[in-house]
Amino acid sequence: MQKILKLGVLTSGGDAPGMNPCIRAVVRTGIYNGLEVVGIRKGYQGLIEDDMYDMNPRSVSNILNLGGTILKTARCLPFRTDEGMEAAYQNLKKRGINALVVIGGDGTFTGALRFAKKYTDIQVMGVPGTIDNDLYGSTYTLGFDTATNTVVEAIDKIRDTADAHDRLFFIEVMGRDSGAIALRAGVCCGAEAILLPEKATAIDDLIENLKNGQDKKKSSSIVIVAEGDKNGGVYDIARKVQQEIKFYDIKVTILGHLQRGGSPSAFDRVLGSRLGYAAVKALLRGESRKMVGLQANYIKITDIEEALTQHEFKLEEDLMEMADILAI
Ligand code: F6P
Repeated sequence: MQKILKLGVLTSGGDAPGMNPCIRAVVRTGIYNGLEVVGIRKGYQGLIEDDMYDMNPRSVSNILNLGGTILKTARCLPFRTDEGMEAAYQNLKKRGINALVVIGGDGTFTGALRFAKKYTDIQVMGVPGTIDNDLYGSTYTLGFDTATNTVVEAIDKIRDTADAHDRLFFIEVMGRDSGAIALRAGVCCGAEAILLPEKATAIDDLIENLKNGQDKKKSSSIVIVAEGDKNGGVYDIARKVQQEIKFYDIKVTILGHLQRGGSPSAFDRVLGSRLGYAAVKALLRGESRKMVGLQANYIKITDIEEALTQHEFKLEEDLMEMADILAI
């Protein structure tokens, strides 16, 4: 087993609340165990451009409550090329860094796996950090809880005005190909309908459902649309529904990037700390090309390869069924 001396940490892809608590845990666990820790700015871009700095326990003081990532992040196309990877490797060698913690989503892990397969003398450990909650191997990803809370707070406010005007709101939420935020938020806010990429809803059925709601004297209606839903986008759906439904004035809100910001929830602070701590411990045990995750409230280690190929992240069937029934 190689002895790690110098550990690099980076955040990559879309930022997610909870990344900062995770960075803090990586830095302090590493230093506690006698490692030198280097912060890499802007994800893989910082590796290629040699944009890194030495960290100490004080570099991560008072960041538990901060959204975003103090290391900054980027979606880095050059890292997908052989030249980009080679430049990154040479910079790591030059600095004597022989282990990496990469915090991000599936794009980040795809890059990490290719890199770790090519350069086997660098140990790589992944931490699932994305609001989308779409990684196999961890029931929760960093940022999902905070983002869902942000969405719930926003939709509660929209419900107030929807009710005051007897309006129907279509609200688009993030998640890329995952309906995880939409489903949770829908349950929390009593949405009349939730359109998910994982479960096709025909527009005719949606219209029928909304008409039934009006017959049952619902004064307002909220339809949450996951951005990955296959019905052609929230404006298109709203237009089709408005053609058939005249009793409601229809409005559209796209919550957008506000879902990514904000102070991490207590859950994401604990999760980030736990996963960061576990990632360094796994590296110290000699593990590589793995991802630390949470399953049944225990830390579980999954091969990155498995996490990526089993990509299919399943939404809870009971939540989907229940959401429909509770919205009658
Ligand atoms: O993966 C996180 C996420 O916020 C997705 O939910 C969304 O589709 C995407 O990133 C937006 O990416 P960008 O910030 O690059 O526009």
